[in-house]
Amino acid sequence: MRTQVAIIGAGPAGLLLSHLLAQGGVESVVLETRSEEYVAARIRAGILEHSSVELLEAAGLGGRIRTEGDHHRGIYLQWPGERHHLDFVDLAGRSVWVYGQTEVQKDLIAARKADDQEVHYEVSDVSLHDVTSDRPFVTFTDSSGATQRLDCAVIAGCDGSFGPSRHAVPAAQKFEKVYPYSWFGILADVAPSTDELIYAWHPNGFALHSMRSATVSRLYLQVPNGTDPASWSDDRIWDELATRLGHGQNGWKLNPGPITDKSVLPMRSYVQTPMRHGNLYLAGDAAHIVPPTGAKGLNLAIADVALLSKALIASLVDRNQSLADRYSDDAQRRVWRCTHFSWWMTTMLHTSGDPFDAELQLSQLRWVATSRAGATGLAENYAGLPIGY
Ligand code: APR
Ligand code: PHB
Repeated sequence: MRTQVAIIGAGPAGLLLSHLLAQGGVESVVLETRSEEYVAARIRAGILEHSSVELLEAAGLGGRIRTEGDHHRGIYLQWPGERHHLDFVDLAGRSVWVYGQTEVQKDLIAARKADDQEVHYEVSDVSLHDVTSDRPFVTFTDSSGATQRLDCAVIAGCDGSFGPSRHAVPAAQKFEKVYPYSWFGILADVAPSTDELIYAWHPNGFALHSMRSATVSRLYLQVPNGTDPASWSDDRIWDELATRLGHGQNGWKLNPGPITDKSVLPMRSYVQTPMRHGNLYLAGDAAHIVPPTGAKGLNLAIADVALLSKALIASLVDRNQSLADRYSDDAQRRVWRCTHFSWWMTTMLHTSGDPFDAELQLSQLRWVATSRAGATGLAENYAGLPIGY
């Protein structure tokens, strides 16, 4: 087999890259270890930044965001006794959309199918070869058990944090921070109890009220690392959410409902640089992981791919290497902005048990929620900087 770009991973980064490359006249083949059904059903984050929506719309992928997504002007930030609304449109001139990554993934799968994109699902033994030569190739075992070789001009490593691509960059510099807490996430068949997301600081730990639609709520609790989701009954989950989110304060009520999914997510920050080695380019979770506070993971993957698709089209169609040569530096600028923002939101909102930390957090929350300068900083970062940042 031969193609111009071998894309490893059919998550949002890999499929969006194949879509944008095709629009620019560059052909690709996508390799994915999981099945199409698994990839389409995975539950992930749910917030799209302004510039992610603009990019998806410009690529012809915005149809369902406008009809089925929910436009949010901002978020609520709260701590015991106080809830403040931050209006991003007013503060930063930009807003966000609630539209699940699961839906983005389904839209991408449908668009790539309509375009006859070659995607090999359920492959194994994916290996990258000769990435610094001008004839790199990927070998893999296809779903029928046959060994295959895919020759290409470029390999795009979009295979997340567990894939092989990031290990194919020797001497990469790696930065990592593991947080001493996790998120316990639930999906519930109940109308959200709020019009916009609530980020809550509480002495028992952080809580977040998010949503997927008018009938599905997504909520999270800070829990110790290693928590077993089965050790929490549904009643205990709703009671703790009610406490941390302030049920009963100023007449606000949290409506419980049937829980359809429970999972525990560990939290870490990870950045690997450079994001290019010869003819191997990394994008999305393959190069960086952010903790979920602030919902940057998907948006960062989209921003990487926006840069990478332009760079590869310029390189492979116009024979202009300048964007490809700058790709890693350009992408890292935004990666570090989002890494800082996600770390900042995480450390401002999650309790550590240290009373000194708690007072600093409350002081910072008061400042962010009540000073226009503080609120604008959060709004600019949350609603997202322009793609070219
Ligand atoms: N070969 C082929 N595919 C692989 C391999 C491999 N050896 N290993 C992993 N993959 C696939 C995974 O199964 C997954 O479908 O690569 C894909 C990577 O997709 P994501 O993990 O969704 O990462 P990305 O596309 O970068 O999207 C980033 O996803 O995890 C969230 O928070 C993250 O929202 C962000 C977004
Ligand atoms: C989600 O809806 O899953 C979500 C929303 C906001 C976040 C993180 C996750 O900051």
